[in-house]
Amino acid sequence: MIRPAAFCSIMKLLFVAGARPNFPKVAPLMAELARRPGRFEQVLVHTGQHYDYNMSQVFFEQLEMPAPDEFLNVGSGSHAAQTAAVMTAFEPALLKHRPDWVVVVGDVNSTVACALVAAKLGIQVAHVEAGLRSRDRSMPEEINRLLTDQISDALFTPSRDGDENLLREGVAPAQIHFVGNVMIDTLARMLPLARERPILSEAGLSARDHLLVTLHRPSNVDDPAALREILNALVELARERRVLFPVHPRTRARIQNSGIALPGTALQLIEPLGYLDFLAVMSTAAVVLTDSGGVQEETTWLGVPCVTARPNTERPITITQGTNRLVASRSGEILRALEAVLRAPPARGAPPELWDGRTAVRIADIFERWGTKDRASTGAACAR
Ligand code: UD1
Ligand code: UDP
Repeated sequence: MIRPAAFCSIMKLLFVAGARPNFPKVAPLMAELARRPGRFEQVLVHTGQHYDYNMSQVFFEQLEMPAPDEFLNVGSGSHAAQTAAVMTAFEPALLKHRPDWVVVVGDVNSTVACALVAAKLGIQVAHVEAGLRSRDRSMPEEINRLLTDQISDALFTPSRDGDENLLREGVAPAQIHFVGNVMIDTLARMLPLARERPILSEAGLSARDHLLVTLHRPSNVDDPAALREILNALVELARERRVLFPVHPRTRARIQNSGIALPGTALQLIEPLGYLDFLAVMSTAAVVLTDSGGVQEETTWLGVPCVTARPNTERPITITQGTNRLVASRSGEILRALEAVLRAPPARGAPPELWDGRTAVRIADIFERWGTKDRASTGAACAR
C-alpha cells in the first residue's frame, strides 16, 4: 500500500543518480515535477560513481539538470566496495532529507545500494526502468535489477515485458505501472539540438557512412580474448569505413593493459562524447556496434541499425520491434553481422508503445495522484 506523505501536503522526492546512463533518466523526471509548483519538493543525490567530466558533469550542463544537493563522492572500486561506499554515504543523506519517496533509475550499483538503504529505513522506493531481465546472472546489472525490484514499492516499467517479468516474480499488480521509456523523453527533446552540433563536419564524417562503437560490458572488455576479437573486427572494418569509437574509461584501461596494437587506420579511438555529440554521431551512423543498454533503446527509437555484442538482452523489444540484433563477441561473426546490416539495413518500425517522449509526464501524474489522495486524507497544512 502507498503510504501518505509524512507531515506535509507537498510530496518530497529524493532522486538518485550516479553513473552516465542515470542522468538522461533523472533529468526529464525532475524537469516535469518542477513544472508543477506547490506539489513536489525535490532533492538530487549524486553518488559520484562516475566522475570524469564527460561521464557526469557534461550531462548536468547539456540536460540542464539542477546541481546535486548531495554529492557522495564514492568513486570506483570493486562491486562490494563501491556498493558499500554508496550505502554508507547515502544513509546520513537520506536521514537528513527524509523524503516521502526515494526514486532510483536503471540498474547500476548506485541504484541497488540506495534502494536497499531506503527500504531498510522504511522509506518508500520507486524504481524507474523496472522489470527488465536478461536472465543472465553473470551480469552484475541483472543482480541489481532483481534486488531493486524486489524491495521497491512502486515499479515503473518501460515495456510490457517488464510487467510480465515482475508478475512472474510475484510483484503485486497494483505496484506495477507501465509508463514507457523515460530515456526517450530526453532523446526526443535533445535531438534538434544534437542536429545543430558541428561534430560531423569537424570530424569529416558524412551521414550514414560511419560506424559508431561503444563497449563497456565486463564480459567484452575485461576478457582479453573477447576484447581482442572485437578489436580485430574493428580494425578490419576500418579498412573500408570510418569507425568512430568513443572509449568508456573501463575499456580504455583494458585496451591499454592488453598490449593490443591498433594500426593507424580509419579506426578512431576518442574520449567518451558528451550527450549531444554522441547523439549527433549515433543518429547519423550507418550502423552502431554496442553492448550498452541505453544505446540499444536509443537506436531503436532513431531507427538506426544496431548490432549488440552480447549473448542476450534485457531489452528484447529492441529486437522484436526495433533495429537491434545480437551477435557473439567473435571477430568473424561481428564482421558478418555488420556487413549484412550495411547491405540490407533493417526496416524501421513504429517506436515501441509509450516511447513517445511523455513518460515523465505519466510518472509525475501518478505521484501527483498519490499526493492528492494524501492531501485529502491528511489535510492541506504543511508542517515539514
Ligand atoms: C557502470 C555500471 C554499468 C553501466 C555503466 C555505464 C555497475 C555495476 N556498472 O559500469 O551497469 O552500464 O556504468 O557506463 O554499476 N572510471 C573512470 N572514470 C569515471 C568512471 C569510471 O575512470 O568517471 C573507470 C574506473 O577505473 C572504474 C571503471 O571505469 O574502475 C569502471 O567504473 P564502474 O562505475 O565501476 O563500472 P562501469 O564499467 O562504468
Ligand atoms: N552516451 C554518451 N556518450 C558516449 C556514450 C554513450 O553520452 O560516448 C550516452 C548514450 O547516448 C546513453 C547513455 O550514455 O544515453 C548510455 O550509457 P552507457 O552506455 O554508459 O550505459 P548503459 O546504458 O549500458 O547502462
